Amino acid sequence: MVEASTAPTPTDQAAPVLATHALTWGVGGFTILEDIDLEVRTGEFLSVIGPNGAGKTSLLNVISGTNIARSGRVELAGEDITGLRPALRVRRGLGRTFQTSSLFPNLTVAENARLGAQASRGGSLSLISRPRWEDAATQSGLQALGEVGLANRAGDLVADLSHGDKRKLEIALLLCSDPDVLLLDEPTAGVSVEEVEPLVRVIRDVHARGRTVVMVEHRMELVVDASDRIAVLHNGRLLTVGSPDEVMADATVQSAYLGETD
Ligand SMILES: Nc1ncnc2c1ncn2[C@@H]1O[C@H](COP(=O)(O)OP(=O)(O)OP(=O)(O)O)[C@@H](O)[C@H]1O
Ligand SMILES: [Mg+2]
Repeated sequence: MVEASTAPTPTDQAAPVLATHALTWGVGGFTILEDIDLEVRTGEFLSVIGPNGAGKTSLLNVISGTNIARSGRVELAGEDITGLRPALRVRRGLGRTFQTSSLFPNLTVAENARLGAQASRGGSLSLISRPRWEDAATQSGLQALGEVGLANRAGDLVADLSHGDKRKLEIALLLCSDPDVLLLDEPTAGVSVEEVEPLVRVIRDVHARGRTVVMVEHRMELVVDASDRIAVLHNGRLLTVGSPDEVMADATVQSAYLGETD
């Protein structure tokens, strides 16, 4: 059991910081996401669950701009961002981690953080850069490392980090762009059981400092514990959105999972 978040619980009246309206996406003749209407409230911790292949990663891809919607809209802070490139969405406050790791294993933790900070400032991913930029990027990288509890690993090679610490580093890279909304795709994937709780504590701390979190996750005990609301995807459609208690008691959710193995 992870201790309760100290973040204020968003009310039903809180304005959506992120919303999708009738969002549809597909590949070739296949529709993979269909008619998704989802509102994420400012400051909310919202988890997205669903069986394998339900469309969870695809949804994050369309929200972050990796995939372009076939129809419908994505709004961030009330503004239409449906057609924006991913980098422009990042600049508007939308940050995203991927289901699989995207770090440079042969560089140190601090070097990865600096590159993350440079990239978030619109700089190139170069280890040779102008000194003033480099100093600022190093500083914000180190600050982000502190936020996820990795300051003491700054000089270590990423290849030597545990999976849990690599996941924390990915979150630190995300924080370099100072996002209002974090999209996390299975942050605990590949992380050993004993490392899950410290990692979840980092995510909850980041949320408690005022950021909105949208987390795709398979570990139900974490989802139920951490989330203000849970959205359930099934076969590319949004089955339901509600409080953990509502969703766990929902018969359609139970039947969607029936026979699924993870
Ligand atoms: N670029 C693509 N080209 C073709 N099919 C795709 C593509 N991206 C996703 N799909 C298909 O869309 C469906 C949804 O995939 P997606 O990765 O979004 O599911 P998911 O809910 O994230 O699953 P998991 O829990 O396994 O991560 C799957 O059937 C997948 O094969
Ligand atoms: Mg996925």
